[in-house]
Amino acid sequence: MTPAPDLLASDLHGSFQDPVLGSIGFLNEVMDRHPEAISFAPGAPHPEFVQGLDLRVLTDRFLTHLCTDRGLDPSRAERVLYEYGPAQGLINDLVAEALRADQGIHVVPDDVVITVGAQEAMFLTLRALYRNSEDVLAVADPCFPGILGAARLLDIPVTDVREGAAGLDVDHLAARCRQARAEGRRLRVCYVAPDFSNPGGARMPLAARHALLDLADREDLLLVEDNAYAFTAAESDALPGLKALDVRRRVVHVGTFAKVGFPGARVGYAVADQRVGRADGDRSLAQELADLKTMVTVNTSPLSQAVVGGLLLEHGRSLRALARRKAERYRSNLAHLTDALERHLPPGALPGVSWHRPVGGFFARVDLPVPADQALLEVSADRYGVLWTPMRQFSLTDRGDRQLRLSCSYLEPDRIETGVQRLAAFLTKEAAG
Ligand SMILES: Cc1ncc(COP(=O)(O)O)c(C=O)c1O
Repeated sequence: MTPAPDLLASDLHGSFQDPVLGSIGFLNEVMDRHPEAISFAPGAPHPEFVQGLDLRVLTDRFLTHLCTDRGLDPSRAERVLYEYGPAQGLINDLVAEALRADQGIHVVPDDVVITVGAQEAMFLTLRALYRNSEDVLAVADPCFPGILGAARLLDIPVTDVREGAAGLDVDHLAARCRQARAEGRRLRVCYVAPDFSNPGGARMPLAARHALLDLADREDLLLVEDNAYAFTAAESDALPGLKALDVRRRVVHVGTFAKVGFPGARVGYAVADQRVGRADGDRSLAQELADLKTMVTVNTSPLSQAVVGGLLLEHGRSLRALARRKAERYRSNLAHLTDALERHLPPGALPGVSWHRPVGGFFARVDLPVPADQALLEVSADRYGVLWTPMRQFSLTDRGDRQLRLSCSYLEPDRIETGVQRLAAFLTKEAAG
């Protein structure tokens, strides 16, 4: 007889009932069960970029920087790696310098907090900005599940804003602001990825970026910009991010080294230069976030920050230089994916099946005439040896129910080709209307 449980799930926090919490674990579990399948599921970096990375060399590069640029003696510098560190971070100066040089974001190190990935940056930002349940978060829909999960953990009400090929629908966001007001609430924050969003792949034109910033100013709302895939744009085609255009301090910019560095480092950051008025003197919002961080992760691992700092130093303190070879690889992979989709799934070939052509980033989406759910994924994995991500977990609405996401970042071109052939066979037999 199974013993009676000590705790009931219904007695735990409500977020446990939310499918967003299980979504990543489920995909990992399916991939473990089908190691031979070609997986278009994870947005993981290509393995070639970590082969041969020498962590000791990178750490030593950072220690030299501590001695020569910050005047620490070598034994003090070495101890930095082994001790607790400042909650706000160790590499804020390097990150601020790179953002200034590469992205036109003019901030000082005190406006930056180094976090355990972009995920913690989002979590802290939401925690700081949400006073009570009258405040609402708007998210571009479809949207990255990390922000939905963070909001769920914090019991923050969320509303969706449509996202099309030209990115977030600014008029729809304005309507959401009016709706919140009519309900006696306040739309406080909008989460948005202006370049090659995950999963939509959308990109906002420059005029729409300005319109969004103007709306944020009129409505007194803050924008959380998560532009994790902007680096995949060709340098001649890069558009300024929202933070670079943000003269009225409406934008908190969250960043990650998961794609331009490697995800195992777990290093990200928030750029939050908003001034927070206090009786004992104003501070930046980043400094406030660092206070919250002391009660979440205390500080971001100094070892990880040293490795990421070493990576920046090795690349002339430039994010663009660090990302250049990766951006080329991902543009080429995306071109292989769209080329294979054109040949194996041309428009009109299968009733009810069509795909959206991404202009950058890691992802493409395919519309199906049937629900793209976990049961269908099992069939795809079992009988056809190809994995993808159901779009359901990326949406607050039913917009994603009949869509799947393909990620091409970590596959070789021949695997992309074979994977799309398998996908086409699967859709022909199992999904086409
Ligand atoms: C939109 C988006 N933001 C952020 C991240 C990475 O976050 P982290 O730095 O916590 O790994 C990802 C990773 O998949 C992502 O897709």
